[in-house]
Amino acid sequence: MDKIIIHGGTPLRGSIGLSGSKNATLPILMASLLTAEPLVISNVPRLRDVNTAIDLLATLGVDVQWSGEHRLELCGANAASWEAPYELVKTMRASFVVLGPLLARHGRARVSTPGGCAIGARPVNLHMAGIRALGAKVQLRHGYVEAHAERLRGARVWLDNPSVGATENIMMAAVRAQGQTVIENAAREPEVQDLARMLTAMGAQIAGAGTHVIEIEGVQRLHGAEHHVIADRIEAGSLMAAATITGGDLTIENAPVDQLDAVMVKLVEAGAEVHAHNGALRVCRSAPLHPIELRTLPYPGFPTDLQAQMMAVLTQAHGTSVITETIFENRFMHALELLRMGADVVMKGPTAIVRGSSRLSGAPVMATDLRASMSLILAGLVAENTTEVSRIYHLDRGYEDIDAKLRAIGARLERVPDKGE
Ligand code: EPZ
Repeated sequence: MDKIIIHGGTPLRGSIGLSGSKNATLPILMASLLTAEPLVISNVPRLRDVNTAIDLLATLGVDVQWSGEHRLELCGANAASWEAPYELVKTMRASFVVLGPLLARHGRARVSTPGGCAIGARPVNLHMAGIRALGAKVQLRHGYVEAHAERLRGARVWLDNPSVGATENIMMAAVRAQGQTVIENAAREPEVQDLARMLTAMGAQIAGAGTHVIEIEGVQRLHGAEHHVIADRIEAGSLMAAATITGGDLTIENAPVDQLDAVMVKLVEAGAEVHAHNGALRVCRSAPLHPIELRTLPYPGFPTDLQAQMMAVLTQAHGTSVITETIFENRFMHALELLRMGADVVMKGPTAIVRGSSRLSGAPVMATDLRASMSLILAGLVAENTTEVSRIYHLDRGYEDIDAKLRAIGARLERVPDKGE
């Protein structure tokens, strides 16, 4: 296992590019199960989670080859298996979105439930209800969701909450169902929209992706396509937070500016300056940071995947901030580690009170989940002395070469093997 050692105190300056979106890539790769024809996906980030998705698809019989540094060629012609094993699904919850494609392709599926993770119970009831609405028989046995359907039929599906994964699973089942499916209270995330774009390129008929109502006309078959994955808005937000917390001046090339409204508003409220120009986003901060109120919400609200990073920033604000996490029930694990660095955070249920102006001091800390890892790195970038972030495999799940990227804009950090682990 690796750890990252950070020497704090250097403002980040320069320009940086973004990798492809992890959360768009994962469902897009699973869509290869929906056709026997080849797919070419470009701008695929080199991540642990992408490797896990490739391993899962290989066990299902999809042929997957890297044909470039960030380019994958997939062919589901020989995808004969309909079972997604526990060993793979438990390591990456996003694997669960193979349920819809397997059911659409084979008329049956046996997918391990993902189980909980550090940030919450992560149930799949909305996925199961949606698949049932399309006419499948669905049951939970021995930790596996077992589903089968002679023929999926279009239906109206209401999601109790706009679940990203459930929207994606239902969409990938519905594209080959008989008749029209309407998903109401659908997730609006850009990653859902990117999946819809790729499915449409494969011949699916989808309208309304990006709104709360997605209409799908089922088609008999889907064909091959080429697709370029959107940039990662959460990586962009994480880098914006890095420039803000270090008092730097960073230009992010090819930033998905139109997907970052809530993030820009909140960073400006906290004291950053943000300028969008020709597709690039410049973030700088020289004035003292102000405290803010922050609530995570489904898109287009402030993303839960940037809550941990913002908490690190707000430890430096002159005053008390209030963060409310409305999406996951246990997404303050990073706060416990920030406390070890001298942050002053009090948590009460879904709310964290962050008393700012903390002089953070470097310490050995432990990453607990993907976005918590980034939060600890941001804290290390401003802490006095040296911070060691262990279990950095969490970070590698969702950030491509992030230590090299941060070094290139002035961060003093290095990745070393963690002999203690
Ligand atoms: C996606 O997870 C993302 N992952 C998450 O990013 C992100 O935090 C989340 O959406 C919310 O934006 C991928 O896209 C691979 P949800 P997902 O279903 O689909 C509850 C990261 O750091 N729920 O929208 O699993 C659930 O418990 C990761 O990149 C049910 O109750 O999230 C949660 O409280 C972390 N029943 C809420 O809905 C269900 O059947 C939102 O979950 C499904 C979800």
